[in-house]
Amino acid sequence: MSELNVQLFSPENLIDPYPAYKQLRDESPIYFMAEMNLHVVTRYDLLREAIKRTDDFSSKYDRFLGGARELMFSTLSDDQKKKAMDIESQMVEIPPTMLTLDEPEHTQFRSLVSQLFTGSQVKKSEDQVRAVIMKNIDTMKGKSDGDFMEDFAFPVPLEIISDRLGIPVEDRDFFYPAATAAAAGLKMAPLTPEQIIERGQIALDLQKYLIGLVEARRQDPQEDMITILANSKLEEADRELTHGEILSILNQFLVAGHETTTSTFGWGMLALCDNPEIQDKIRGDEKLIKTFVEETLRIEAPVQGLPRVVTRDTELGGYALKEGDMLMLRYGAANRDERQFENPDDVDVERAKAGMQMAFGSGVHFCIGAPLARQELNIGFYELLEHFGAFSLDASKGRPVADPSFILRGLPNLNLTYQER
Ligand code: HEM
Repeated sequence: MSELNVQLFSPENLIDPYPAYKQLRDESPIYFMAEMNLHVVTRYDLLREAIKRTDDFSSKYDRFLGGARELMFSTLSDDQKKKAMDIESQMVEIPPTMLTLDEPEHTQFRSLVSQLFTGSQVKKSEDQVRAVIMKNIDTMKGKSDGDFMEDFAFPVPLEIISDRLGIPVEDRDFFYPAATAAAAGLKMAPLTPEQIIERGQIALDLQKYLIGLVEARRQDPQEDMITILANSKLEEADRELTHGEILSILNQFLVAGHETTTSTFGWGMLALCDNPEIQDKIRGDEKLIKTFVEETLRIEAPVQGLPRVVTRDTELGGYALKEGDMLMLRYGAANRDERQFENPDDVDVERAKAGMQMAFGSGVHFCIGAPLARQELNIGFYELLEHFGAFSLDASKGRPVADPSFILRGLPNLNLTYQER
């Protein structure tokens, strides 16, 4: 039995998990994290193997997410609990649709949703994506410093996904903060009881709003994702999606699809500040920018990890696992495995196999939004470097610190100085 005691959930390790990951890869590549009852996988080869063995390692890990809810509820007073339950009782139940389903149910939803992310769909949206990026670049012009998260990294992916979903412009003042609050649920960061109730109310308002929009699109179809989800049929069942199923898919887009891309913009910009020579090297070169984006995703996986449930007694890399055990796949650790990537802590814009990074997962659950995320990031960094140079950290504001989060890893602020070109 391992003598190691690595506190992955300590504030220091949540802020900077990489030294702990290295120790685990070297000494205990599958490590039992007793405080959360998780078997943590940190080595690239084992992580890939676990993802492939879907019969042994299931994606039905709602229990893990449900556990976080129980934990939150336990901090509420009786009065607050009553309020929270009252809000919950009004909410449409959300069934699993993709992320937390196994075959064959997973494929039913995945093939329906994949029509939203075909090469031609993504190509078609290129002008729209560039327009949002340019609008935010314009707000940075005329300035020589500012918080990059606020000025660019945060608003760009949110506006792009809202455009693609078909959220009417006049509803954005409600939608933006509501969608952001929904995504914050997965941070697994501690909330005050008041925040828990407030989040619940926002989630309910967002559900009601989205159901209204689905019904409106059923009556009056438009060219957007909600119209497609509202009017497509699940092939085998030969029926339209229920409100719960549509909300489940939209939740995944809002949680998985917004904050992750925001984080990657932040981490990429930090990498440009830390390695200023890269700025001039990749400017104007689409191929190098693509590799830079893959390297950013590798160095700082925005989704640090996700679970799997062990379906029967088995082993992984010689480590015994029992039916019902929970694995925790750490993409962020596998991406810095020196057995897979030479000099793994360096951003190498000429790395031959940078695309082997695991930030989007792999196999049947490989991120369905990856083509959209890559498009935003590739165009975004291209245009940022076309219009600005000399990006560096604003020395007066100190070095940015990551949000202490176990799942979604991002920077709350990134204060920069830069020059317009
Ligand atoms: C840099 C940005 C992104 C990162 C790092 C990321 C990461 C991931 C990861 C790691 C998974 C695999 C989950 C697993 O194996 O259990 C995943 C799945 C998924 N992602 Fe992303 N994602 C990003 C952007 C997006 C976008 C833009 C969207 C949609 C608009 C999206 C929607 C989804 C969905 C729906 C799934 C579930 C797919 C399935 O289970 O079949 N993601 N993502």
